[in-house]
Amino acid sequence: MSWEEGERNRGWTRREWVKLGMTVGAIGTLASLGAVSGRQLVPPPIERSGEIRETIFYTKFPTPQWWNSKVGTPMKVGDFKEWEGATGVWRGLFQDDAHVPGTGFPVLVIRVKRDDTVFAAPDDISLPEGFSLFYDDPTADVDPDTGQPRGVRIIVAFDRCVHLCCYPGWHVVDNPPPDRRYIAPTPTYEKYGEDPIYCVCHGSQYEPMTLVQHVNPRNNATYVGALHTHGPADRALPIIAVKVEGGNLVGGMADPAWYVYCG
Ligand code: FES
Repeated sequence: MSWEEGERNRGWTRREWVKLGMTVGAIGTLASLGAVSGRQLVPPPIERSGEIRETIFYTKFPTPQWWNSKVGTPMKVGDFKEWEGATGVWRGLFQDDAHVPGTGFPVLVIRVKRDDTVFAAPDDISLPEGFSLFYDDPTADVDPDTGQPRGVRIIVAFDRCVHLCCYPGWHVVDNPPPDRRYIAPTPTYEKYGEDPIYCVCHGSQYEPMTLVQHVNPRNNATYVGALHTHGPADRALPIIAVKVEGGNLVGGMADPAWYVYCG
């Protein structure tokens, strides 16, 4: 068996991940950021009529995942068990009720443990009305054993690595496994044994329970993101403000400059 066959048999590999980023990713990102910057960076599917949807929709993942049967439907808060995450699209263009591939912002949605002893986020950020840096419901998801609510807390991250714009993932790649020598406190793993957000391309990781402010060097915009905790990235992974309408997760644009760094 060749080395590559061996890698393939062990599952999704770094090599395949990088290849995905160089093909699908190039199209998706340019479309997203074209919308952000106001410039048309790729030939439009956008000339045809349609609507940009602020609701977040599930997107397909190349390997079997729990949400693949939900692709094309809105993400619902109630879909997520503790520590589950999924890929989606925010501000995607929809025509005839179908997402136009390559449009919108790729996002990573993660339900973290609702634990205020380790969770941290800034509280002085200006956001569109009704939106928060993360979704939080302390009364939801009652534990049948204790009768007490577990509570639900969900963060939405922009799914483009601040290192070289690969697609970080949530518990979808473990070949190679993430390096656990963290440069900052990482409660997701250190307290709960769950790996943080992991960009397999060069190993960067981001802590979803610690939201911090950083500056985007491309435009000096101060933004909020998931703390960089390992690897060659040098700053936080931007998050997307969120609210819930009719049980669906809806994204909110705090500042387009938060997301301009790919392409
Ligand atoms: S692109 Fe993510 S670590 Fe390099």
